[in-house]
Amino acid sequence: MPHLLSLMREDVGNVMEHDPAAKSRLEVFLCYSGLHALWLYRVNHWLWNHRLLLLGRWFSQIGRFLTGIEIHPGAKIGRRLFIDHGMGVVIGETAIVGDDVTLYQGVTLGGTGKEHGKRHPTLEDNVVVGGGAKILGNITIGKNSRIGAGSVVLRNVPEHSTVVGVPGHIIFRQGQRVVITDPKQINDPLSEALAAVVTEVNKLRERIQQLEGTEATREPLSAHLQRIMEDIDYQI
Ligand SMILES: CC(C)(COP(=O)(O)OP(=O)(O)OC[C@H]1O[C@@H](n2cnc3c(N)ncnc32)[C@H](O)[C@@H]1OP(=O)(O)O)[C@@H](O)C(=O)NCCC(=O)NCCS
Repeated sequence: MPHLLSLMREDVGNVMEHDPAAKSRLEVFLCYSGLHALWLYRVNHWLWNHRLLLLGRWFSQIGRFLTGIEIHPGAKIGRRLFIDHGMGVVIGETAIVGDDVTLYQGVTLGGTGKEHGKRHPTLEDNVVVGGGAKILGNITIGKNSRIGAGSVVLRNVPEHSTVVGVPGHIIFRQGQRVVITDPKQINDPLSEALAAVVTEVNKLRERIQQLEGTEATREPLSAHLQRIMEDIDYQI
């Protein structure tokens, strides 16, 4: 019990630290449904782990009714989870959430409907998931990564990456802008087509240079093409 209270204190402090809208600890305690859902989850998870499965599930449904947030009692959630606004958040039974993760409203950590066993995602520490994003299947979102609002992510995301879109593709990796995602990792037909065209342009330029026999006449690449080529070099 004292442990639970100290966790609650830590959760309130965490919200004060991260939400500029939070004006006082009392306001956070009373008004943040994300925290209420998390605290209920901790009780339900305890019940679940003590084989009181139906009770855990039933209380989680009550929590959903009260907060609009559905956290399955079987999910494993680390410290200082911040669910901002919260309405519509769903966290599935086999989801694993690390420490210091932030979820905005409407986030789903769900299954694809095709898998059994571990069928929900794993979010490593410090991951931020934007409003309405859907992360589906037994995939891992690497630590310190950010998932853009409205994205649908179906593949593993490496650490320190930013992913946006449907299907999700990487736009930043290790702080570096990525124009074209790695076709080996993400199925994005447009990126693949663009990568093929740029590779072809590169070959043609080299061939022309060979035929001309001189590099002196070489035209500089347009800044845009240069950037795309650098990204392809970086990615592939
Ligand atoms: C993904 C995110 C973290 C990126 O933030 P950032 O690093 O500051 O990146 P930028 O805003 O510079 O955007 C980079 C590019 O990604 C695009 N982009 C950003 N977020 C996007 C999204 N959710 N979906 C699709 N494209 C997105 C931008 O248009 C921009 O494209 P461009 O360079 O071709 O113009 C942020 O946009 C986001 O979605 N945050 C979630 C916030 C949220 O859900 N808030 C809810 C509050 S209730």
